[in-house]
Amino acid sequence: MAGRIFDDRIPQDLQRFILCVHRDRSMLDDLRVNLENIVPQEYRVLPVDSPTRGLEVIHDLEGQGDQVDIVISDMGTPDFPGYRFLEIVNHRFPQVRKVLLTSGGEDDAAVYSINTSDLDRCLREPVSQEDFRLTILSLLRLCRLRADNEDLLAVVRGRNLQLQEMLESLSQAHTEIEQSYLQTIQALAQALDAKDSYTAGHSRRVSRFAYLLARRMGLSREKCEDVRDGALMHDIGKIGVPEQVLLKPGRMTEDEIKLMQMHPVIGAQILVPVKPLRRYIPAVKHHHERWDGKGYPDGLKAEEIPVEARITLIADTFDAITSDRPYRSARPLDLAVEQFTKFSGTQFDPECVRVFLEILTEDPPGLSCKVEA
Ligand SMILES: [Fe+2]
Repeated sequence: MAGRIFDDRIPQDLQRFILCVHRDRSMLDDLRVNLENIVPQEYRVLPVDSPTRGLEVIHDLEGQGDQVDIVISDMGTPDFPGYRFLEIVNHRFPQVRKVLLTSGGEDDAAVYSINTSDLDRCLREPVSQEDFRLTILSLLRLCRLRADNEDLLAVVRGRNLQLQEMLESLSQAHTEIEQSYLQTIQALAQALDAKDSYTAGHSRRVSRFAYLLARRMGLSREKCEDVRDGALMHDIGKIGVPEQVLLKPGRMTEDEIKLMQMHPVIGAQILVPVKPLRRYIPAVKHHHERWDGKGYPDGLKAEEIPVEARITLIADTFDAITSDRPYRSARPLDLAVEQFTKFSGTQFDPECVRVFLEILTEDPPGLSCKVEA
C-alpha cells in the first residue's frame, strides 16, 4: 500500500485529476482510498506528501493540457504551510477547486486561507466520511458544470465564427449584386446614347463634368461618386419616351413636349424597385428643376432642389451647348460661359455656376468643348 501512496508519477491516459497533499502518509493513504470510492472512473487521484511536489504536479499536468479539478491540502509544514500552498494554487490556477483540512488550533490559518485563496471548503480533521463524500460530490458537480459551460462556449464561438463567415460571404454577394445593378444601368445609359448617334457619349460626358464640379464644390467623396453615377443615368427615363418623339428632328407639339418631360419621373420609377440605386433618384428625377422654381417635374425651388440635381443640370447643359447636334456643330466655350452667366440665379444655382466657371476658366485637362465621347 505504501508503494501506491507515493506513486505520484503523472499518468498519460487520463485527463482529469484530484490532487491530495498531506504531510501524514497514513492520512494521505486514507484520503486516496476514500476518494477512489467516491469519484467517477475518469478521475485519477494523485497523492503527494508535500506542497512543493503538489505545485510541480499541477504545473506539469496543466503543461500537457490536462486538468486538475480539485486540490485537497492539509496545513502542510511550518516552512511551507498549506494555506500558503493554496494561495499560490489560487493565484496560478484559479479554476481549481480547493479544500483545506485543518486540525485543532489552526483556526487563524484557516480564516486566512478562506480570505486569500477563494477556498471552496474548509474541513476539520478528523473528517467524517459522509461530510467528505458530500463535499467532494458537490465540488465534482461544480467542476462538471464548469466543463459543460466551457463546451457550450466553444460551440457558441464556433457558431459565431461560422456566422461571421456567412455574413462576410453575404456582404460580398451584396457588393457584387450592387455592382451588377450599376453595370446594368451603365449598359442602359449606353443603349440610350446609341439610339441617337448625335448624342453618343452624352451620358458619360455629363457624368464626368458633374463629378468634376462636385469635387470642386467640396462634396464628400461618397457624395461625389453618387453625383457621378447619378449623372450617368440622368436621362435613363428616355427609354420610356417613344422614339418618334425622342428623335423628332423638328419642333415638338405641346403633347410631345409633355411626353418628353415625363423622362425624369420615368427614370425615377426605373430606379425605385432597386434599393441600391435609389440614392440616384434625386439626380435623375430633378435634373430639370430650375433655381427659380419654373422647372419640372415638381417645380422645386433653389435649395429645395437636391444638390446632385443642380450639378447634373449644369453638366447636362454644358454638354448640350458644346457637343455637336444634327442641326448645328459644337458651339464655342464662350457661349457656354455666356449662357451660365446669363441664367445664373434663374435657371441655375448661382454657386454651382460660380464654381463651374472657375473650372472652365482654368480649363483643366478633359473639361472643354472638345472632350471626346
Ligand atoms: Fe434630361
